[in-house]
Amino acid sequence: LPDSLSDLFRRMHEHFPALDREHNGGYIFFDNAAGAQLPRRAIERVTEHLTRYNAQKGSVFARQERMQQAVYAMRQGCADLMGTRSDRIALGLNATTLIQLIAHQMGRDLKAGDLVLTSQLDHMANVWPWEEFASRGVQVEMIPITEAGAPDMAAYRTLLARKPRLVAFGWVSNATGTVVDVAEMARLAHEAGALTLVDCVAGAPHMPMAVEAWDVDFAVCSAYKIFGPHLGMAYINPDRLEGWQLGALVTQAAGRYSLGTAFAAKLELGTQNHEGIAGFTGTLEYLEQLGTAAAALAGAPAPQTRRERLVAAMTAIGQYEQRLTSALLETIGAVPGAVLYGQPSVPIFSFNIAGRRPADVARHLESRGIEARTGNYLAIPSMVKLAEAFDGEAVRVSLLHYNTTVEVARLGEALLTL
Ligand SMILES: Cc1ncc(COP(=O)(O)O)c(C=O)c1O
Repeated sequence: LPDSLSDLFRRMHEHFPALDREHNGGYIFFDNAAGAQLPRRAIERVTEHLTRYNAQKGSVFARQERMQQAVYAMRQGCADLMGTRSDRIALGLNATTLIQLIAHQMGRDLKAGDLVLTSQLDHMANVWPWEEFASRGVQVEMIPITEAGAPDMAAYRTLLARKPRLVAFGWVSNATGTVVDVAEMARLAHEAGALTLVDCVAGAPHMPMAVEAWDVDFAVCSAYKIFGPHLGMAYINPDRLEGWQLGALVTQAAGRYSLGTAFAAKLELGTQNHEGIAGFTGTLEYLEQLGTAAAALAGAPAPQTRRERLVAAMTAIGQYEQRLTSALLETIGAVPGAVLYGQPSVPIFSFNIAGRRPADVARHLESRGIEARTGNYLAIPSMVKLAEAFDGEAVRVSLLHYNTTVEVARLGEALLTL
């Protein structure tokens, strides 16, 4: 990483009012996998929307027309972020709701005896909606993880031999920072004739998303984890939906409406979070500026499209965050009695300290000015397996590109005074 780029990231926190220690009680915010802080630009966009452009859909006056255009423009913004076209995007409340709505649509075609696979590495948002179909005789089985906390690929292949209809899995574990090879998981699923739904929530703040290149069928993501307001986005690829009612809807709609309208009719229910949409526009502007600056500092050609600027930003973020990941590995590894779960490739770390309850560790960290999380973070299956000796609970510190190695050093000092 060039020094100039490290300098850029060392100053990124200045764009985030909530990270200003003068106003936030001096805390270091290490609970980012639960939800990120927002750049000033996003906060300004929310205020601007509520001050000047607040209106409801369905009429002709200019203010509502502007609001409606902002919703359509947000589909394009999310498409640029996820790596697809806007008519394959539906907006929504959050990832959990969107997975539930997709499962509801797909569930109309699931019969007794059909097999659906979930993953032991996943957040329950991508497990519970599928387990509900078990009451109708659908078989729902979990791809297990290894002791190292990665999907057990041999077991996955064995499950695929039973011809599941759908495989629901995640890109990155929100508990252990494990990164899954999405394209490979999807390739194997498709070979076995299954559709794929990937939960991108925990990975999206750390690396570029590329849903088309990965060739998945559904993907969901949440803006509030990517430095934005509370807003969800779903990607739907109609190419393999033949024989499913959702596919028939798309074929019917293709004659009468756009694809985007057809999906939106099923997933964008009621009135959207207009102020959140406005705010996320500001987040994307912030990221585009970061992408342009990062490309210039790295001596790369200036990115031309919004997609290119977003990819440049997320690529630079990923490079910088590797420093945070290495610093965390070293810091936590140096704490006597510390047990780290899984093998983090992004700065999401869950650990315990022998003889200490996770909540006591977190309280101590708070007394030393560090906000961390404890519990299972709804990554229940993996935490129950990996942190069995602590009843499936641990301490989690999760960092983003606005955190620094200086803050990691403060964590080290705090843990050593436990
Ligand atoms: C991996 C993962 N999936 C899904 C969710 C749920 O996201 P949302 O709050 O957008 O429904 C979370 C939230 O922490 C998560 O970390």
